[in-house]
Amino acid sequence: MSGLDDVIAAETTLSDVDGANGRLVIRGQSLDSLAGSTSYEGVLALLLPDLLSSDVEVVRADLAHARLRAFREVSVLDDALAAGGVTEALRALMARLPDGEDRSVALLQIAAPAVFVPAILRVRAGKTPVAPHPGRGHAADMLAMLTGTQPTDEAVRALDTYLVTVSDHGLNASTFTARVVASTRAGYASAVIAALGALKGPLHGGAPGPVLDMLDAVGTPANASAWIEDQLACGERLMGFGHRVYRVRDPRADALKAALSRLGAAGNMDGDRLALAEAIEKAALAALRAAKPDRVLETNVEFFTALLLEALGFPRDAFTGVFATGRVSGWVAHAHEQIATGRLIRPQSRYIGPQAA
Ligand code: CMC
Repeated sequence: MSGLDDVIAAETTLSDVDGANGRLVIRGQSLDSLAGSTSYEGVLALLLPDLLSSDVEVVRADLAHARLRAFREVSVLDDALAAGGVTEALRALMARLPDGEDRSVALLQIAAPAVFVPAILRVRAGKTPVAPHPGRGHAADMLAMLTGTQPTDEAVRALDTYLVTVSDHGLNASTFTARVVASTRAGYASAVIAALGALKGPLHGGAPGPVLDMLDAVGTPANASAWIEDQLACGERLMGFGHRVYRVRDPRADALKAALSRLGAAGNMDGDRLALAEAIEKAALAALRAAKPDRVLETNVEFFTALLLEALGFPRDAFTGVFATGRVSGWVAHAHEQIATGRLIRPQSRYIGPQAA
């Protein structure tokens, strides 16, 4: 009850999270068929055909134009804002964008995180933000704005895989938040900013940074079992494991693990880091099975997110912002779907407090 488990609060044509079978379907296409072979623009064309376009090339051009528009806001990004935390600075910059229910507002919201996250990281590092380039795809441009150099094809494919993998995922906490706000007719920008607030928490989109903290604390594969058992004995949760809906392995974890293997094969991944992660995953799954035999607790998307984004050069405190860069498509698509229902979301609570005398 307190977590609304199994409550159906919306009907959607956007994505189906099949928790029993570990399958994610986005608009009729399985994640397996999309991740690694479709660009982020491709998944946007799938999710938002009537708001953006069903033509991937049109989405690519429109998104590139919107990135240029978003970059204008970067001029207000100063050292103090950048130093206040990546998610916080992202939220502040997103809040400067216009609100409303127009297509242009939606497009700008979708484009902006890919511009703002690299700019925040560069300003924080004392570097000048790099402007977007309309000739690049969304993932390639985000990487170029981060490093100031042309990214490799493998890196672009890996980031595209990540953005597609997290693009939409049923009625997760942040998407539900976006739908609630959109249902009040507040506008896409309000819905996205509220969703970003929900994403930030460690039980949702804030987990991958702590996954790397865990890798650092474990240090070597030989330490994995002892460290993990110690954490569980202290009542700690292992970041990157468990899920409210999946009762088998999170299919997104497999999509990202495959992307990591491709990066490794191309020489873009530290082999020792991957070996350490694999040892921790194995030890964690064994320890969780022993500690919670009645509850299936498997690897979730955040575990491999941490390794993938680290390999692509994002610092760990930027992971939530990169998650938002992908999930913003789902937030806007659900907001759009909710607005079309014309119905305010307004559930009820049961009063269990003292009665008036
Ligand atoms: N480590 C240790 N114990 C766990 C974990 C974990 N990662 N996950 C659940 N448990 C335990 C939990 O303590 C509880 O034990 P008890 O019954 O003794 O109180 C039992 O398993 C059931 O937990 P629950 O809280 O009912 O599970 P939930 O379905 O509500 O929680 C979760 C889902 C994701 C919040 C939780 O698994 C968790 O905190 N995981 C770690 C954080 C994490 O990786 N978050 C990213 C989630 S995936 C991204 C996304 O889709 O948003």
